Amino acid sequence: MKAKAKAPANIAFIKYWGKKDQKLRIPMNSSISMNLSAVFTITSVEFDRRLKMDKVYLNGKKALGKERERVVDHLDRVREMAGMKLFADMRSVNNFPKGSGIASSASGFAALTLAAVRAANLKLSTRQLSILARMGSGSACRSIPDGFVEWKTAKTSNASFARSLFPPDYWDICDLIVIVTRKKKKVSSTKGHAVAESSPFYKTRIRGMKEKVEAIKKALRNKDFNSLGQIIEEDAINMHAVMMTSSPPLYYWTGATMEIIQSVIRWREEGFQSYFTIDAGPNVHIICRGRDVDHLKHLLLKIHGVRDIIINRPAKGARLISSRK
Ligand code: PMV
Repeated sequence: MKAKAKAPANIAFIKYWGKKDQKLRIPMNSSISMNLSAVFTITSVEFDRRLKMDKVYLNGKKALGKERERVVDHLDRVREMAGMKLFADMRSVNNFPKGSGIASSASGFAALTLAAVRAANLKLSTRQLSILARMGSGSACRSIPDGFVEWKTAKTSNASFARSLFPPDYWDICDLIVIVTRKKKKVSSTKGHAVAESSPFYKTRIRGMKEKVEAIKKALRNKDFNSLGQIIEEDAINMHAVMMTSSPPLYYWTGATMEIIQSVIRWREEGFQSYFTIDAGPNVHIICRGRDVDHLKHLLLKIHGVRDIIINRPAKGARLISSRK
């Protein structure tokens, strides 16, 4: 029983920060995202009678400690659903740096979910896969369905899943990931979520969330690029204000992050429309129209501290690559 799956990372337009239920990873607020074409994880899982324990390899290295534990916990969820006890050989490879604000846990747990479920011979709907992926890493549930995605908060686990709002070819917009460092971040998002409520601004953030989600869905429906971009930027800054004012405070930015933020704002003043967003790391995502990619890349490469640029178009969600009994 072996299966291999591929899943994209995603960029949140409206961010998920803070949970109602830490263990089940039910978010305080709904979020909206786009799956990314150029950053993904490929994962294979084989349940094998001969194994005496799970084997976990991440990017060719044997995983240890917390990293291993999180994968084994997820395999346990699948084993429980399938009513079986076999150990697994799990191998996962990212095509981008892990832990640097490109959602490696999102693509990682989405690919692991689909591969493990198929290897266990379970047949789950997109909704069920999304719920299961969410328990591994919240944002992973958004990497299951295609294209532009909404993940709803809910009172119960079974009602908190992601669904596709629009397919990938709905709108030709891009996300340029501007890499300023490839170092692993110091504080994981799991730890960050847990301290979000200690920020004096957190309640205010959550209060405004429903309206923001509706506003961005309207911008998507109308393909209104400037409204979309403004909401994306506002929400990213709002989330980072919460991060920086939580206890302990979380500063994910570096000087280069700020340099890029200010450049994007200046380019807009000069008439070129693009918008930034930032996850739990220093790298910056810039959302632009498909036709503007070359120009934006040219501008970005002039900024000191920019190491690399990854160009993403909207992408499909998790897909099975192969499976055999
Ligand atoms: O799913 P996690 O625990 O990696 O949290 C993701 C948090 C952000 O990337 C900062 C926001 C988001 O909605 O993707």
